[in-house]
Amino acid sequence: MNDDYAISIENVGKTYRSRDGREHPVLKGLDFRVRPGEFVSIVGQSGSGKTTLLKTISGLQEPTEGRILVKGRPISEGVEDIAMVFQAPVLLPWRNNLDNVLLPLEFRGTRNEQSRDYARELLEMVGLGDKAKRYSYELSGGMQQRVAICRALVSRPDLLLMDEPFGALDAMTRDSMNFEIQRIWRTTGCSVLFVTHSISEAVWLGDRVVVVGDKPGRIVADVTIDLPRPRDTTHRFSPEFSGYVTEIEAHIGVTAGIS
Ligand SMILES: Nc1ncnc2c1ncn2[C@@H]1O[C@H](COP(=O)(O)OP(=O)(O)OP(=O)(O)O)[C@@H](O)[C@H]1O
Ligand SMILES: [Mg+2]
Repeated sequence: MNDDYAISIENVGKTYRSRDGREHPVLKGLDFRVRPGEFVSIVGQSGSGKTTLLKTISGLQEPTEGRILVKGRPISEGVEDIAMVFQAPVLLPWRNNLDNVLLPLEFRGTRNEQSRDYARELLEMVGLGDKAKRYSYELSGGMQQRVAICRALVSRPDLLLMDEPFGALDAMTRDSMNFEIQRIWRTTGCSVLFVTHSISEAVWLGDRVVVVGDKPGRIVADVTIDLPRPRDTTHRFSPEFSGYVTEIEAHIGVTAGIS
């Protein structure tokens, strides 16, 4: 049954049309499902259509073929259960961090005392409880991205879409954000679709890693990561972990024509 899934991507295709009228197929025949509470990583070559896929799932744009169901309902009926985190945090500099987190609820007209408490709770959860009244320019890049994650979580989404959320961070901050996101995911129980260029990040975080091939974007592999949870740094040095990384590298290499 479709409504057993957090999201069903059914034979989805997306074609962009350029100004000269030419068609550019970017996604073709994508078909996969995400179970409630599942963490699915997505990797693939630059330009393979990963951002296009997330934008299409979030309802920012429509698929040209196929359909997307959220808990069995077409996304066209409303996408309130979905939130997205982009590579850049894009916080409003004239609002303090708490007010940035509350922004989506203001747009919906549902901001109230309870939501304020919840926003504070989220900031506590990501270690920024003392920064609620500070402004984004007073925070490091990693801290700003944590505020952006709180902003996505404040509407209690069932599905969190993340498009290279840690791409702009240095390696050490990125490692600690990996732990952070694992903890947030386990605490909130939401399903996550997580796009990354880092194969080891994808394996370490994911229940599955979906590999998107390019021209046009399609799924070339869907690898179940059978590593125990919660995961810590020791898992990164296990032979099983290296095996998954090598397997996924091979899938990406094949699609890029590097055998
Ligand atoms: N609005 C648009 N109009 C036309 N073409 C687009 C549009 N958005 C993306 N594309 C094209 O679609 C293809 C896929 O782009 P997309 O941004 O989804 O790739 P990606 O996998 O996210 O890449 P990256 O890893 O570099 O972020 C690219 O060839 C891009 O030029
Ligand atoms: Mg992208």
